[in-house]
Order: sequence, then structure tokens, then C-alpha cells
Amino acid sequence: MSNPQNPFIGMRDEELLCEDFARRLDEQDLLTKLRKEFIIPTKADLKSKRYGPASTASSDFANGTVDSKDSEESIYFCGNSLGLQPRRTRDYINKYLDTWAAKGVFGHFKNFDEGLPPWLHIDDAVKEQTAKIVGALPSEVVIMETLTANLHLLMSSFYKPTKDRYKIIIEGKAFPSDHYAALSQLAHHSLPPSALVTISPLSLSTPYLTTEHILSTISQHAASTALVLLPGIQFYSGQFFDIRLITHHCHLHGITIGWDLAHAVGNVPLNLHAWNVDFAAWCNYKYMNGGPGVIGGAFVHQVHGTVSHALPSTTSAAHNMSLDEQITKESEEQLIYRPRLSGWWGSDKSSRFHMENTFVPIPGASGFQLSNPSALDITSVMASLDIFSLTSIEALRERSLRLTGYLEARLLGWKGEPPYTIITPSNPAERGAQLSILLKPGLLVNVLEYIEERGVVVDERKPDVLRVAPAPLYNSFWDIHRFITIFHDACKRALDASNGDVAA
Ligand SMILES: Cc1ncc(COP(=O)(O)O)c(C=O)c1O
Repeated sequence: MSNPQNPFIGMRDEELLCEDFARRLDEQDLLTKLRKEFIIPTKADLKSKRYGPASTASSDFANGTVDSKDSEESIYFCGNSLGLQPRRTRDYINKYLDTWAAKGVFGHFKNFDEGLPPWLHIDDAVKEQTAKIVGALPSEVVIMETLTANLHLLMSSFYKPTKDRYKIIIEGKAFPSDHYAALSQLAHHSLPPSALVTISPLSLSTPYLTTEHILSTISQHAASTALVLLPGIQFYSGQFFDIRLITHHCHLHGITIGWDLAHAVGNVPLNLHAWNVDFAAWCNYKYMNGGPGVIGGAFVHQVHGTVSHALPSTTSAAHNMSLDEQITKESEEQLIYRPRLSGWWGSDKSSRFHMENTFVPIPGASGFQLSNPSALDITSVMASLDIFSLTSIEALRERSLRLTGYLEARLLGWKGEPPYTIITPSNPAERGAQLSILLKPGLLVNVLEYIEERGVVVDERKPDVLRVAPAPLYNSFWDIHRFITIFHDACKRALDASNGDVAA
């Protein structure tokens, strides 16, 4: 019977399992063409002991480390950890290097023919494209720092505990860095670890957090809670939280909410402005393909980024001031803006180089910057953003729903009782690209060894979980078909090797 949520489930096996079917799906999909924008490592590249591609390392072939039939492309399903390299990244970075080499410090200020934007403005140059990806106004986003650093910077501004409202709510399986960050924010305010409330799944057998459970935990602690920090997509289970509804619920209770969008950005459409999210932070190295550890991003809602002047004094004393006195008074005039940890790059561009000690925050998210950003990093992010601009995040989501739906249907196609379960929600609206597969105990090591040997790259979470993420920009239905064949063989061999020791 067909399944309205996933049209691939319930299809006839003769069609679904057929190699030609996967090929046809790729042929029919207009976005398949984006794959050529990326460097897909070959199986030989992955096996080679040399740091670069194997194709140029003839010694790898000569000494038998890799086989010439390994020239086939690998099956890379690890964009949830580190996205693949866009082909254009090398050109962009070469331009950066050439500009630095030939122009030195002028690279900061001048436009050059066929060059990238001057480094002084490079943070502004990526705002518009970033804003489209997270559903924000350009002024609400900034590319800066890294994810955990940004969470701290934002919490230092948005987490303002009082005697009555001081708790931070996170989820029980939060990414450890978020857990540490929240705990250390409490300590920073001399609050005990017990002020950290964690939302844990109701059942031990599933990591799924129902929206009702999240909302009711927030309601239960509302009177004493200052901040909620949640992931847009949960890193382990792949669950996509209802950001709009949870944000709305927090606001009804007067609670500020921030989102860690590491696994959501570039993966699912977001609408941070319309959803009234207070703040958010993300990295640009997963679905954003900016490169390992590259500069991250932050969102600050328009309502929190305003900068205004205190009303000018109209007292009679002011009228009696000399002009000189009035000018001095004006320059001391208080600016009204959200308090934050500040640095010179967050201060108004036109006066930044005057080297005066008056911090005039740039309105919006840019006012939260500290240092001049790594132009090398932003150049790399820019290369990736330019690929996103060849399509739209909505079109990518359409493709992603089909890819992940196809993967799910093929995983469910195991004949008999499968030696695994999918722990990611089956409702496509509650997940992004990733499916997390919980293997029966004792199988993971064998399965991983077998699939890696055959050029499959997925991400493991010990003891028993594989995270498999077909990234819509570069993965194909054909990748999934090849993966399933290898993965199912791996499971059969691991089951045989375990001699029936696998727990039910
Ligand atoms: C959900 C989540 N939060 C936080 C982090 C930490 O990121 P960073 O090392 O860039 O601070 C990661 C890294 O993978 C992550 O997946």
C-alpha cells in the first residue's frame, strides 16, 4: 500500500529495487547537475595513504595500496559532519592568496578587476545569501567566529538570570559542546548545575522528543526559566524540531530562546525572522560545505539588534550650555542597545578606524562581531554560498525529501526482520536529510569495516548508531542504490560473523 508521507514506501519491489529506477530518478531531477560542482573523492582517494588524491600518487598503485578499479566515486553520506569540497573553492582561495601576495594590505580596501570583495567588506558580502538560507533579513545575520564561541557570545547578551528566573533548559542529549556552554554560563553567573534543566525522551528505547513533551517541560519550569537553548535538528537522531511552535511557546511564557542550527542550516528551509527566533548560531562546515572548522554564523532578531540614541536633553540647563559644552555632551550621549561582549569589528564602520574609545554598535547581528574575520574562511564560505545561489533552499528541500524518502524505503526493504531500526522520525516534516540507523548490538564494527573498505563514508556514533545523510547538493539516488547493496551485504556478513549472538 502506498504511503502518503513517503511515496517510495509500498512501491513494487521490481521497480523500487531496480538499478535503472535509481538512474531514472537522477535523470529526471533538475538538481542532479549540482553534483558536478563538488569534488567527490574516489574510492582510491580514500584508500590512498597520501594526503591528496590518489590519481596523482602512482606509488599507491605501484605498491598495491589501492586498486585501479577503485577509480569509481565513493559513496559519501557524511555531509552532516563535513560537507564535500566545492570545485570553485580552490579558485576562490587562489584569488584570495593572489590578492594577498600581490596587493598586501590594499587587499583590505580596494576592489580589483575579477577579484573578490575587499576584505574590509567581506563579512557584508555574504550576508544576503546567508539570510536567504536561514530565512532572515540580511541585517539579522553575520558570518563570524565559530559555533560554540557564538553561542557563548549570544548567551552573554541574552541570558540575564534574575533571582526568580535563572534556569536554562536544554535537551538531555544536547551536543556536548552546547551542554558545556550552558553549564559554564550558569557557573559564570555563580549558579549551580542544578539550574540546568534537561529535556529527555519519555522512553529509553527512542531518542524522539515529542513537541508536546518539549512544550510541557518548558511550561513546567517557565516561572523560573530565563533561557531555552535547543537544536534545530538533533545531531544524533536527526529529529527536526518545530522551531516556530516552540519559539512561540517560549515567548508566551516570557522566555528567551536560542537555536543551535548546526544540522539544520543548508539542510532544511528556515524562517528565523518570521518565527521570531531570538537568536541562533550555526557552523558552515556541514551542509554548508565551507571546510573543516570554518567560520560560523549567527542570527539576532531585528528587535534585538536596534541601536538608538537617548532622547536629547531639553532641560533649561542644556539651553544655557555653550556650543562647545553641547558638542561634548552629544558625544557622550548614551546609545541604547542590547548589552553584549564587544569588539572593534562590531562598531560602526565609518568610525571604526578613528581609533576612538566610543563603541557605536552596528545595528543588527554585525554589531555582535568582535574581531576582523578570517578573510580566508569567508572566501571559502563564499564559494559554497555561490553554489546555493544556483538553486533555492526550497528546491533543495524537495530533492532532499525524495532522496531521504528513497533511502528510508530501501532500508525498510530488508527481507524479514532487519538487524536495525531507523531512529529518525518517519514523518518527513520532522527530519532533514539524515537517517540514523540503530544496529543490533555487536554489529557496528563489522558493518563499518565492510562498508568503508567498499568506499562508503558514513558517520558512526558508538555503540550502535550509523548516521547516513544524503546531502541534496551532491548525493544521488544512484549513491543510495549502491549504498544499500553494500550495507545489506555488510549486515548479512556481520550477522553471520556473530553466529546468532546478536541480541533481539
Ligand atoms: C549540534 C552541534 N553543536 C555544536 C557543535 C560544535 O561546533 P563547533 O566546534 O564549531 O563549535 C557541533 C559540531 O559538530 C554540533 O554538531
